[in-house]
Amino acid sequence: MPLISLTQKDLLGIEDLTPEEIKLILDTAEMLKEISRREIKKVPTLRGKTIVTFFFESSTRTRTSFDIAAKRLSADTFSLTGSSSSLTKGETLLDTARNLEAMNPDLIIIRHPASGAPHFVAERIKPGVINAGDGMHEHPTQALLDMLTVRDRFGRLDGLKLAIVGDLFHSRVARSNIMGFSKMGAKVMVAGPPSLVPPFIQHLGAEVAPTMEEAISGADVIMMLRVQNERLQGAFFPSVREYAVFYGLDRKKLALAKENALVMHPGPINRGVEISPDVADGPQSVIMDQVTNGVAVRMAVLLLLIGGRAGEKAN
Ligand code: CP
Repeated sequence: MPLISLTQKDLLGIEDLTPEEIKLILDTAEMLKEISRREIKKVPTLRGKTIVTFFFESSTRTRTSFDIAAKRLSADTFSLTGSSSSLTKGETLLDTARNLEAMNPDLIIIRHPASGAPHFVAERIKPGVINAGDGMHEHPTQALLDMLTVRDRFGRLDGLKLAIVGDLFHSRVARSNIMGFSKMGAKVMVAGPPSLVPPFIQHLGAEVAPTMEEAISGADVIMMLRVQNERLQGAFFPSVREYAVFYGLDRKKLALAKENALVMHPGPINRGVEISPDVADGPQSVIMDQVTNGVAVRMAVLLLLIGGRAGEKAN
């Protein structure tokens, strides 16, 4: 029997999801996309629910799309950042979360620079917690919107070859995508500067290619990763120029992939470093589709966690 609902209170990682649960989220997102194309982009599904976004790191896409998703489902939203909260006065993360809990929200969406921070909070409070990116660990809704974007184009995920290239060491996007695409039957190959390819990456389900060219040859999808300047302490590669030559995606390297291969990037982009502008804005790029799908996937996750059965009230 197909799944009709998520049973867990939190969404903390792709690691915790079964292929059936991933499919349920993607199918629900597909159904909800239509709401964003209406003249009045709003349904009453989550009326009376309260959702708090609590971001300790900067964000353009994730924070905005969670906010838009919640509003399209008529939830009340409240936004807090690390710098605007009493954390700056010395309050702990847990005390902050418990104070938010005392106001009876239904969901708290957390982005935090420490891996495991949303898990720590989720174990200790009653409202559901969504991980919007924790340190170098996971970014589950990014992987879900990436899977939706690829499934939209190919009609499936199984049997596809996905190449993920770049700063694998610091990338929570890579970790969630390797697990997600592997669970859904895709083959994942990764490549990056040796100093940025952690040994455990193979245990997540990826095959490590010796060069970028080998990783992307014959690929259906190329996912470029951002060079995470804010997390790069020390020299992981000799120079940005060298990085761009060996691990940047340009038109010449793109020609090694399949003719209709998709080019993806979670954003924000370092233009001319991990991806050339003509490829980022070119006909094979689905980078803006990823952003659009972020709203639908986050609507789906909110609905499935706090809205009852999938689609039951989405009208
Ligand atoms: N992809 C992503 O997480 O982007 P933001 O940091 O802008 O949210």
